Amino acid sequence: MSRKKVTIAELHEKKQNKQKITMVTAYDYPTARILDQAGIDVALVGDSLGNVVLGYESTVPVTMDEMIHHCKAVSRGVKSCFIIGDMPFLSYQVNHEKAIENAGRFIKDAGCDAVKLEGGSDMAPTVKAIVSAGMPVCAHIGLTPQTATMLSGYKVQGKDAESARRLIQSAKDLEEAGAFLIVFECIPDFLAARITEELKIPTIGIGAGKDCDGQVLVYHDLVGLFERFTPKFVKQYINLAPMIKEAIGQYKTEVETGVFPGPEHGFAMNKKEAEKL
Ligand code: KIV
Repeated sequence: MSRKKVTIAELHEKKQNKQKITMVTAYDYPTARILDQAGIDVALVGDSLGNVVLGYESTVPVTMDEMIHHCKAVSRGVKSCFIIGDMPFLSYQVNHEKAIENAGRFIKDAGCDAVKLEGGSDMAPTVKAIVSAGMPVCAHIGLTPQTATMLSGYKVQGKDAESARRLIQSAKDLEEAGAFLIVFECIPDFLAARITEELKIPTIGIGAGKDCDGQVLVYHDLVGLFERFTPKFVKQYINLAPMIKEAIGQYKTEVETGVFPGPEHGFAMNKKEAEKL
């Protein structure tokens, strides 16, 4: 039996019923189909696209056009997952008009159900503007990769009481502004549990412990397709890269030695027609 489309109400019910929400990133049609068929709740077209698919050093160079291109492919592959498109750096910070316009491209042109943006209390007015224009927003606090330089690198956030208090306030401000979901990246488990308990909206953790309302992982980390580095918070469920390399190596050998293609991979010609040649 095919699943129904996941809705915001269903994600909120999961929090109330203490059922965990599952989110995985996807950047293309085949991955979107796999997540959909595996019963994942949310497909996030993350700007981690920049690192794991486009080969950039960070998420900063990712453009709106690149995000929209990949969101469209994911939309074509998904029937049931709720799709969130990640707004790239400087697509929502300049002013509210530009933020609404760019959020609109994710929803209207690319088939996303919601957008995600990074930032704490300072971003609450932007969240409010996009939500007021009729588009759901997922917030993202803690380690915010687009502004990692401002944070002096990719570090765990909220380790001392003062910064933890700022994160608690940010989460409350973002909820108040209308965010329907919030991602915590790299914050202490204790802090994530505390905010999760205080918020009505579901929280999704990545490096934020088991007490969040759900978890997200980058697809390429989860299946072992990104070999440049593996963050501490990742659990690799399968290591595909060596398996794929072995398969490609076997193909190369078989082509070079004439084993592939075999007769079963070819197309026969009518004998009489062949004799006319
Ligand atoms: O871009 C991304 O994949 C993300 C997740 C790590 C939450 O923002």
